Amino acid sequence: MRKNIVAGNWKMNKNLQEGIALAKELNEALKGKTVKCDVVIGTPYIHLAGVADSIDTSRVGVAAQNCADKELGAYTGEVSAAMIASTGAKYVILGHSERRAYYHETAETLKEKVTLALANGLTPIFCIGEVLEERESEKHFEVVKSQIAASLFDLASEDFGKIVLAYEPVWAIGTGKTATAAQAQEMHAFIRSTLAEKYGQVVADNTSILYGGSANASNAKELFSNPDVDGGLIGGASLAVDKFMPIIEAF
Ligand code: PGA
Repeated sequence: MRKNIVAGNWKMNKNLQEGIALAKELNEALKGKTVKCDVVIGTPYIHLAGVADSIDTSRVGVAAQNCADKELGAYTGEVSAAMIASTGAKYVILGHSERRAYYHETAETLKEKVTLALANGLTPIFCIGEVLEERESEKHFEVVKSQIAASLFDLASEDFGKIVLAYEPVWAIGTGKTATAAQAQEMHAFIRSTLAEKYGQVVADNTSILYGGSANASNAKELFSNPDVDGGLIGGASLAVDKFMPIIEAF
């Protein structure tokens, strides 16, 4: 059966020393505790190796926030999936709306990134979600379905089974405006039925679908109590242990 996962997305915050200190503090806070979800932190590239070396990665998994769409070679400034895997990171966040909007990531480049991530043993946390205008014009289901289909539906069922999805309505990210628990459940159930149509009910039931967008200690319990919400991708509230731990413990 699918896993519950609470994953932090630090985005472009914390210098190396601050990041290692935060990761260690989280690792300590989780020591000796039994939590009902897997815990992951998504750090900037330069933090990955230092963070992975400073914590017990079986307790706190480490994620990159992006990877290159090329295997290796003359791509100045890029970081490959193989390099990420060599740091001890086990996950990679792909297709975040900030990368789609500000860095023009397309369904095609994301398809390459997913393939390379999987080939290097990384678990993609693949983000999808509509902008406000699309929700207001009731296109949100269509938009999310086509984001999933365009980048992921060429995968064989065995490979799709290794993907974690994160539904992040763009209007809820960093805005303090969370989707209601009902809106999250409605979309997550729709996503699961979309997966069932393509890959069958077993694969759909085994896929973890996280919610992201202004999730915090006060709304996590209600969001996570929905049958199709399997955890969260947490931005702002993952930057301090006293804000992140209550979300982990909301399961
Ligand atoms: P937020 O970000 O929790 O700060 O809204 C979530 C995300 O973008 O992953």
